[in-house]
Amino acid sequence: MSTDAYEVAAEAAGRLRELTGVEAFDVALVLGSGWVPAADAIGRTISEHSVTDLPGFAAPAVAGHSGRVRAVETAAGRHALIFMGRTHLYEGRGVEPVVHGVRTAVAAGASTVVLTNAAGGLRPETQKVGEPVLIGDHINLTGANPITGATFIDLTEVYSRRLRDLAREVDPSLAEGVYVAFRGPTYETPAEIRMLRTLGGDLVGMSTVLEAIAAREAGAEVLGVSLVTNPGAGLVGEPLNHEEVLAVGRSTAARMGVLLGKVVGKL
Ligand code: 6GU
Repeated sequence: MSTDAYEVAAEAAGRLRELTGVEAFDVALVLGSGWVPAADAIGRTISEHSVTDLPGFAAPAVAGHSGRVRAVETAAGRHALIFMGRTHLYEGRGVEPVVHGVRTAVAAGASTVVLTNAAGGLRPETQKVGEPVLIGDHINLTGANPITGATFIDLTEVYSRRLRDLAREVDPSLAEGVYVAFRGPTYETPAEIRMLRTLGGDLVGMSTVLEAIAAREAGAEVLGVSLVTNPGAGLVGEPLNHEEVLAVGRSTAARMGVLLGKVVGKL
């Protein structure tokens, strides 16, 4: 196995081709906390594997993240690669495992990457728990970046306007917001949440931004969708817990499945 991250991704893509019999994928989806049940709405399962069967992947360590990858054929005959779970920066393995799925998917042909997550809502005045929100832009406060060296990549439109418009054709009620990422694994303090509101953030979480950057570097178009599972700390008074985040995902899975299924159907 190579030690160059892009070569390992190419090797993983080759292994996926062997395992699934799919020559080239059209789209990849990364399903975050609470989104995994939505996988069934994307299409017919061709095959499903543990990510640990592919070079360069570690088993995700988080409840709600299964570490499985599924090859699917959509009703329109498109091929989708669905990662049911992801590796997070807070797991302590560094940036490369966090973005390996996206790099593998693009190496396997995917020109569209759909990134989903569970997020804290920074605008409880207008946001409802259980609501999906399109990511229009991000603020990367993880302190990390998947790209090393003097590679200056434009991030004016990380999250494709075309794909956001397409998602709104599916569901005109979809709100849009700025996603702020921290490394985690702690949730934020109330003072940090107030800071993020001042900075123009609408959503806060611990994923997505590094994968979005890696996808853009690799030339893919990105759609990001957050599921608001709770208000940020201190905004309504209740302390936060991960089980609650998962429960919101379970109760909204059907709606998220319909949304993703229709969006992928329009690609
Ligand atoms: Cl409030 N913060 C972070 N960082 N991640 C979250 C969250 C909050 N709610 C769900 N995921």
